[in-house]
Amino acid sequence: MRHGRCTDSVSAVFDVTVVRSGYPALSDGFAYLDGAAGTQMPQVVIDAIADVYRTGIGNVGGAFPASQRADGIVAEARRAIADLVGGDPGGVVLGPNMTTLTYRLAYALARGWRPGDEVVVSRLDHDANVRPWLQAAERSGATVKWAEVEPATGELAAEQYLELVTDRTRIVAVSAASNVLGTRPDVAAIARIAHAGNALIYVDGVHATAHGPVDTAAIGADFYATSSYKWSGPHAGAVVAAPELLDALQPDKLASSPDTVPERFETGTSAFADLAGVVAAVDHLASLDPALSGSRRARLIASMTAAEAYEQELFHRLIDGLAAMSHVTLYGKARRRTATAYFNVAGRTPLDVAEQLAARRVNVWNGHNYAWELTGVLGIRESGSAVRAGLVHYNDQSDVDRLLDGVAALAP
Ligand SMILES: Cc1ncc(COP(=O)(O)O)c(C=O)c1O
Repeated sequence: MRHGRCTDSVSAVFDVTVVRSGYPALSDGFAYLDGAAGTQMPQVVIDAIADVYRTGIGNVGGAFPASQRADGIVAEARRAIADLVGGDPGGVVLGPNMTTLTYRLAYALARGWRPGDEVVVSRLDHDANVRPWLQAAERSGATVKWAEVEPATGELAAEQYLELVTDRTRIVAVSAASNVLGTRPDVAAIARIAHAGNALIYVDGVHATAHGPVDTAAIGADFYATSSYKWSGPHAGAVVAAPELLDALQPDKLASSPDTVPERFETGTSAFADLAGVVAAVDHLASLDPALSGSRRARLIASMTAAEAYEQELFHRLIDGLAAMSHVTLYGKARRRTATAYFNVAGRTPLDVAEQLAARRVNVWNGHNYAWELTGVLGIRESGSAVRAGLVHYNDQSDVDRLLDGVAALAP
């Protein structure tokens, strides 16, 4: 119990050793605690991507089989994302990443904004769910209002939205989970307040999706953004909305490209092979426990519920271990949070800590991680912010213990 560490083993409904063996990169001797910045890929996803090129692929909309395979991949990717988050495949907009898609949606939405309209953003959010809205508001003359974070806890109180949302509010942009503190705000409560004021809610699910089951209808998200490279897939993003809602929006597009929904939000040629990888990643998440049966959506809910429970158990070991070290300052202690730790070590810069840990083959991130406003609120942005160590379903006790040993060795 040197670092307040428990000695009993952390168990999962699925077999973590088997899951890990599916990820070739995890055998390189590094502890991958950098999942919040991007996960590793299982062999099934790598194979799905390679198979697309092996089999032959064309652009969409052609008369020949290789083109029809591309059409099939796109349709399958929409179905897979819809299953993952509980949406309608006809409302799944695919794109290169969340940031690009959010800029695109913000631009389309802001076409209907007028001076005096209002936009509500939060200081908890990754900048990709802040700056696109601020810039769209500035262009249209809309007023920006800020939801504040409680610095000591990292909570984003839902009640403040009762004051922030008015009948002039057009959009409430909020994160389903902070990518540094892990805070999971009460998005359902915030959505109820937004909808009572006739506003739409744009939920950044990029960090949250990897850490538990998602039900966009239950949380009341009008738009839900996610990126597959955070949940074992390739670098591809998606925004999910009701098709009727997308139908009411007109993004900038080429005269010659489809004007249908969701296609009209997708500029240029898609990364078809990567979309095949997205499908494989969703299938992989749905079968973390191979004994699960039922529809893919049902298996995803069971699988991700188990993954969340496993991560949380492992996270206790991590956070208790760090909290027991007097030379460590931990940020955030929200009631509901993902398995994501953000901390500083006395007398060390975050970069120094990350370098020392890298020398021990432990991967962690240092810096603001684009949580720009939040690191400002915490008063750490100018000094290099902090170190982030995050868990996903493939991390194990040895990853956590190696981090704890590495941080313990940095005691002054
Ligand atoms: C919470 C959160 N939102 C948004 C983003 C941006 O996502 P993307 O890289 O897909 O643009 C990230 C990426 O780290 C994130 O963690």
